[in-house]
Amino acid sequence: MTMKNRFGMFIHWGIYAIPAFHEQALARADWPYEQYEALKDQFNPVNYDPRAWVKTAKDAGMEYICFTAKHHDGFCMWDTKETDYNIMHTPYGRDVLKELSDACREAGMRLSIYYSNPDWYNEYAYNAASSHQWKAKYPERADHEKYLSFVKAQVKELLTNYGPIYTFFWDIPPMIDDPSVNDYLRSLQPDILINDRGYDKGDFSTPERTVPDGERFPNNTEACQSVGEQSWGYREKEDYYSAHHLMASIDKIMAMGGSYLLNVGPRADGTFPPEAERLVLRVGDWYNRVRDALQDTTPDSRGCKVAGGAKYVAVEKNGKTYLHFYAGLTSTAVTLEAPEAVPVRARLLNSGEELPIRYEVLPCKNDSDAVARKPYASVWKIPVDDYPAEPLVIELEW
Ligand code: GLC
Repeated sequence: MTMKNRFGMFIHWGIYAIPAFHEQALARADWPYEQYEALKDQFNPVNYDPRAWVKTAKDAGMEYICFTAKHHDGFCMWDTKETDYNIMHTPYGRDVLKELSDACREAGMRLSIYYSNPDWYNEYAYNAASSHQWKAKYPERADHEKYLSFVKAQVKELLTNYGPIYTFFWDIPPMIDDPSVNDYLRSLQPDILINDRGYDKGDFSTPERTVPDGERFPNNTEACQSVGEQSWGYREKEDYYSAHHLMASIDKIMAMGGSYLLNVGPRADGTFPPEAERLVLRVGDWYNRVRDALQDTTPDSRGCKVAGGAKYVAVEKNGKTYLHFYAGLTSTAVTLEAPEAVPVRARLLNSGEELPIRYEVLPCKNDSDAVARKPYASVWKIPVDDYPAEPLVIELEW
């Protein structure tokens, strides 16, 4: 099944937003269990407004939100009957996932669910074959059958009570091959798409914080990245990425046919950190201008080659070619390698403006003399300095 590539928002939110260190604070700051678990008695996100989250995502051109229902700490952000270690037992006492799913439905936003296999609260969850087990609470009580029935009961709640779920994001592969688990998910939601970090390969792969090489993903892919370098959950002292870095990754990955989840970690009061909000909207402002050249494309069939060393991915759609210069350009011209390739029209999607096409012998083409005397088509007068941070996307008509 081919998955349409979309831009989405990842949201890592849990009681770890209170210490504002990292979503795995329990392990990475080595908190004592009692102290960490007591954070739930403080969790009271009085400014939580899921409509505001959905609006930010929508404004940025995002088409789905993937929410951490349960992270490694085992704390559950929905009204689960399977453990009391959940949002209903905080001063807030409301099902935040339910409220998010309602806000998504109202706005036509797809909802996806993240669910961690490691669980540092559940007494049976320890899994020696898997990673991220550092803080498993009772390794000596490990019991896969018991844990899996707990997981399935939770999955049933998640896939029954919150409307249609677009994708299911298992985290940290359990290293146990058991296709019956994903079959169970599909029995609850036949259209769900499942990632590759669960009990089998699922429907799509999930490169994380990397920009893979190549021109086209061979399989369905959803890459993910956070707005900050250090953490997925809210981190007060976060090292935020540049908008340039994020846009370059999104452009390359989506031009290769992948989906892209950009993550934000809301603060303990329920609001997005202003720096994260600014980045999402900055990236979204660019994305909305170029998205037409990122979705529903196929690989370039003309073999359109650009002279020089610029990094780009070429795709096509409706007979037009789109050149994605994901790392930007170093000069105001793009020259096409094949002398016979002369587009009739060129447009810069960043601004929407039409660009002149020049077809001439170039003084600097220093191949052989015979080649040098041939005319080459160049897209000319590209306003590179008006968009120093943005991937540039050029549309060519033939
Ligand atoms: C890594 C991190 C985890 C985070 C996930 C998002 O697996 O360990 O904390 O939730 O990436 O993909």
